[in-house]
Amino acid sequence: MAVQRWAPRVYDDRHSFVTRYGGDLIDELAPRPGERILDAGCGTGELAAALADAGAEVVGVDSSPEMIDRARERFPHLDLRLADLRELDVEPGFDAVLSNAVLHWIPEAPAAAASMAAALRPGGRLVAELGGAGNITAIVGAAHGLRAELGLPGAAETWYFPGIDEYSAVLEEAGLKVTGAWLFDRPTRLEGEDGLASWLHMFGAPLTSGAPDPDDFVTRLTDRLRPVLHHTGGWWADYVRLRISAVKPTG
Ligand code: BEZ
Repeated sequence: MAVQRWAPRVYDDRHSFVTRYGGDLIDELAPRPGERILDAGCGTGELAAALADAGAEVVGVDSSPEMIDRARERFPHLDLRLADLRELDVEPGFDAVLSNAVLHWIPEAPAAAASMAAALRPGGRLVAELGGAGNITAIVGAAHGLRAELGLPGAAETWYFPGIDEYSAVLEEAGLKVTGAWLFDRPTRLEGEDGLASWLHMFGAPLTSGAPDPDDFVTRLTDRLRPVLHHTGGWWADYVRLRISAVKPTG
């Protein structure tokens, strides 16, 4: 299986939209001063810092050493920990959990949901956003087609893009009560004429793995996707988002 390697500076420079969109989640969560909030999958730390700026006591966790190193460098005042969401071991009693653009990297969804639920106090709330059913269908479909034509084995992507019912069931099984869920298209601008190529280099290892010349594969793939994803002045990723909120029942 292709291993995702994170390049935190490129992530911050070229993929800052991930964090920008995460700002909406903070509005949804409505953090209050003094609340203990867990940022589940904090990446390079920007949303954790925004939560802290709102007066929360934040713990950010991420399973990537590169991301945590960069987050600590940027925000040395924050409590940022290297930890795997599938087997999270944090002190419980958080008032809220926020998770942005992380849960689709974890096919073991019940384990991640159980960790987040265990972290919350009764009455605590969760706001999460991840790639939802139908996410990057054009990108994945074109990659599969190209792989078949080149005689490469099937791509081994393990992204998890659930629909509302599926993910609600995962959270309910973990003991949370779902209070709202939205599945919506969010075509996402990939900045620069090399926007899609940059995205593929950053995130697309599962789609390009095994290609004898990955750069050539990316060039062919972007050529193929140009008629679909290059319009109105640039590249657009065909993102679909699942946003979901839940609470841990008190009784
Ligand atoms: C996403 O945010 O939807 C995503 C990012 C990278 C790879 C796959 C999906």
